[in-house]
Amino acid sequence: MTTSSSLWQPFTLGNVELPHRLALAPLTRSRANPDGTPGELAAEYYGQRASLGLIITEGTQPSEDGQGYLNTPGIYTPEHIEGWRKIADTVHAGGGALFIQLMHVGRMSHPDNTPHHRRPVSPSAISAEQDMFTPMGPQKTPVPRELSAHDIQATIAGFRHAAASAIAAGADGVEIHSANGYLLHQFLSPNSNHRTDEFGGSVESRSRFVVAVARAVAEEIGADRTGIRISPAFPLGGINEGDPVDVRTQYRHLVGELATLKLAYLHVHHLGDDELLRSFRDTWPAALLVVRYGRDREQIADDIDAGLADIAPLGRFALANPDIVQRLRTGAPLNELDPGTLYGGGAAGYTDYPALAHA
Ligand SMILES: Cc1cc2nc3c(=O)[nH]c(=O)nc-3n(C[C@H](O)[C@H](O)[C@H](O)COP(=O)(O)O)c2cc1C
Repeated sequence: MTTSSSLWQPFTLGNVELPHRLALAPLTRSRANPDGTPGELAAEYYGQRASLGLIITEGTQPSEDGQGYLNTPGIYTPEHIEGWRKIADTVHAGGGALFIQLMHVGRMSHPDNTPHHRRPVSPSAISAEQDMFTPMGPQKTPVPRELSAHDIQATIAGFRHAAASAIAAGADGVEIHSANGYLLHQFLSPNSNHRTDEFGGSVESRSRFVVAVARAVAEEIGADRTGIRISPAFPLGGINEGDPVDVRTQYRHLVGELATLKLAYLHVHHLGDDELLRSFRDTWPAALLVVRYGRDREQIADDIDAGLADIAPLGRFALANPDIVQRLRTGAPLNELDPGTLYGGGAAGYTDYPALAHA
């Protein structure tokens, strides 16, 4: 049972007043329509979880190039905006705030999964060599096309447009996905970025694209409506950021640069280097969200209690328990997650996890 009182203190994040220190972590559910409009159950799904306060959405592509997985939503067409508006309205009606996660997957894609069927893009022509689920079954991610200098500027402009579209849909902000092996992480990591221009080589140059995206988004919609997620050393999608000393150097520099932009929050998918996390805490001027990898129910409040985090977003607990806030407050038992219904499909494992009264 999670009794720590630190979880139940209100918090101001950017422009948003939060009732407690929990949040919904971004969770890809692959139930959007083929054109990238959120599916018809998405408003119900997010609305059921509005008591989490800060609702960070599933990874959402800012452009056609940004899509990697089947049936993920987009936020770059008028239809996408209309679809997201229903979700924003439902979350607001439930007292929550909506941040749409902007996820450009870069090389973690396959032409069979994108609207334009073109080769995926990345800082360098280096394959992630991962299995990707496609309509033809699992296939290897191909060797991506290296982004040209012009492509890089167009990609940044795409993030800008997507952020503006999120606000037009009624979202309270966006979270830039710079974690988990996707495009921004591919720029940061030396094994996926072999560029010799100003976007590759040194720690400073490998950080440049991430900082440029964050600056553009903050300029477009306001820094107080912009968050960013990182996952130092997380080896997803073929990423290898080197030894812990290199990782610390990279991320201390990046977080220092991002700190000058006065963003609403930094969201860390944290693998366990507490010295690094402590240095973020000491230098980051605003809210720090921490998802500690592998924590159990009893450990949810630990980083807040230790002064290492302000907010503890929940992924799988919240996926399987729409009323997780009430359950944690009262020490009620939790629903079990069904791994078979995480991605794709309909209501089963999406909107039909029971709330307490019906559990
Ligand atoms: C089904 C599923 C989908 C996920 N999709 C995303 C995503 O779209 N974007 C992201 O940044 N992280 C994603 N994650 C990672 C979660 O946000 C979270 O960091 C992770 O599940 C660990 O937290 P937990 O132990 O509370 O589940 C996903 C995780 C799961 C289980």
